Amino acid sequence: MKKIQLFVDGRELTVLEGKTILEAALENGIYVPHLCHHPDLEPAGICRVCVVEANGALVPSCRAPVADGMVVKTDSSLVNRVRHLAVELLAVNHHEDCLACGKNYDCKLQEVAQYVGVDPNRLKRFKAQEMQPVDDSHPFIIRDYNKCILCGICVRTCDEIVCVEAIDYSFRGYAEKISTLGDKPLQDSNCTSCGECVVRCPVGALLPRKGVKPAYEVKTICTYCGCGCGIYLGVRDGQIAGVRGDRESDVNEGELCVKGRFGFSFVNHPDRLTVPLIKRNGKFEEASWDEALDLVAAKFLEVQAKYGPDSLGGLSSARATNEDNYLFQKLLRSTGSNSVDCCARL
Ligand code: FES
Repeated sequence: MKKIQLFVDGRELTVLEGKTILEAALENGIYVPHLCHHPDLEPAGICRVCVVEANGALVPSCRAPVADGMVVKTDSSLVNRVRHLAVELLAVNHHEDCLACGKNYDCKLQEVAQYVGVDPNRLKRFKAQEMQPVDDSHPFIIRDYNKCILCGICVRTCDEIVCVEAIDYSFRGYAEKISTLGDKPLQDSNCTSCGECVVRCPVGALLPRKGVKPAYEVKTICTYCGCGCGIYLGVRDGQIAGVRGDRESDVNEGELCVKGRFGFSFVNHPDRLTVPLIKRNGKFEEASWDEALDLVAAKFLEVQAKYGPDSLGGLSSARATNEDNYLFQKLLRSTGSNSVDCCARL
């Protein structure tokens, strides 16, 4: 693709034609505050926080393409005034208890409000007194309308990436909000619970129900099915505190399904079986693996001798590796049975 030159705050930049001004600036280390822009999504130009002067005209930089010889100002007094107003209008309707928010210090609104210099005391008298209800119907996701900035990133994620369209803008004016069809609780909608919207929400409007900031992360592979999605397990106090997709993984490029993202509580669950149990005198008792495997082998032989090999069957696990699943079917076939299956089908 053709390269072009433009001037941003007096700096000459060479970028590929077709980029937006925002992309060109960010790629070259020039910070332009933005809220509704997300690199995974088509630009929407909703928040107007990324406004810049391009050849003397105010434009949202996330939607404006670069042009050869273009002169861009990201920090003029006009730009700062317009940007300040845009951020104030968002901040005035925003819940302000940042310390209790799971997104504190990781919040885009906090970042841009600090950058443009929003004065919280000035906004106090304009604040809405009524709090919106929090939708905590969902087992994995909490939706807090008091923190939503209507950037539409969740809507576009559900539409463009997940292709489910479970949520959209609804109502008008001050009542406008992101809701499900018929404004039902998220749990009763056609949301697939993948959590892709939660990952991209720039504020605390969508948060995972469980999860604390991890002390460290471990890069690994999800074992729920045969896809092999790359994940990072967040660890806190020796337990899994959260899961995030690995954007470097060629398999999933950071995306995850509901099981991969939220289904980790079994790992440290107190009911999880960690040793084999054998039923003796009507009660389960702990046993060694040798004891358990000897018992299973003896029962297999007993059934095979009594009812023939077709009476045996095996169901393998998606959590096992491909190699383990291969060996499992070998084992079953060695008994003369072809009745073998695995739940790793998508
Ligand atoms: Fe450009 Fe929101 S980031 S309009």
